Amino acid sequence: ERERQLAGLLAGRKVTVTAGGTIERIDPVRYITNDSSGKMGVAVARMAHRMGADVKLIAASVQVPLPADIETIRVQSAQDMYEAVLAEWNDTDIMVQTAAVADYRPKTVHSTKMKKKDADLILELEKTVDILQSLGERKIDQFLIGFAAETEHVAEYAMDKLKRKRCDLIVANDVTAAGAGFGTDTNRVQIFDEQGLVDDVPLMGKDEVASRLLQLAAKRMSGVSA
Ligand code: CTP
Ligand code: CA
Repeated sequence: ERERQLAGLLAGRKVTVTAGGTIERIDPVRYITNDSSGKMGVAVARMAHRMGADVKLIAASVQVPLPADIETIRVQSAQDMYEAVLAEWNDTDIMVQTAAVADYRPKTVHSTKMKKKDADLILELEKTVDILQSLGERKIDQFLIGFAAETEHVAEYAMDKLKRKRCDLIVANDVTAAGAGFGTDTNRVQIFDEQGLVDDVPLMGKDEVASRLLQLAAKRMSGVSA
């Protein structure tokens, strides 16, 4: 009965989820990435699927098995992810951007393995595209959910991101808190909308966080205030 109720929540909705850390190449054997495990994104994709949504998972580097029953698009770089997201954007109802997208990438990607030299190496980096911000600018009626990993001033920084990127909700977590953030199976988050804090979620499993977040999104989309 609970499964049946769950399956009605997002029936007929298309949910696009990004997960994991992007990989920014230096040369054919070296790259820059980050500590993201992709667990939160995979949990959101699984839960959206259970809730009856048509789910697309766009996965960069993830340290967990990918769900076999969810259509998954593998990407490496921020640029790849951007292109994959844009291809899904027009028919997406809910976009959940959990991915840890690199902010910078090597300015030149060497096509052959770089050779060691006597001098030190200076790697020049350039900004990547801000995928979430670009979606915020293109938003028509999509429900846009961003994530914010912070180590200080969590509420202030999260609200700033929500406004700058025109998100409907932002899920903020203090990655220095015990049991929260990269690689853990649990998370401790606060969900904000334009007005401020809407859900102060205690430490719980990432699948439960996903359920709470998607139930809130489903309610907001059907016009019921939560
Ligand atoms: N994001 C994105 N594209 C980027 C950088 C971030 O889409 N190039 C998204 C992330 O996926 C996340 C949200 O923006 O949903 C916030 O990411 P975060 O790294 O916390 O914010 P930044 O704006 O990059 O700011 P900073 O890293 O300086 O805190
Ligand atoms: Ca960032």
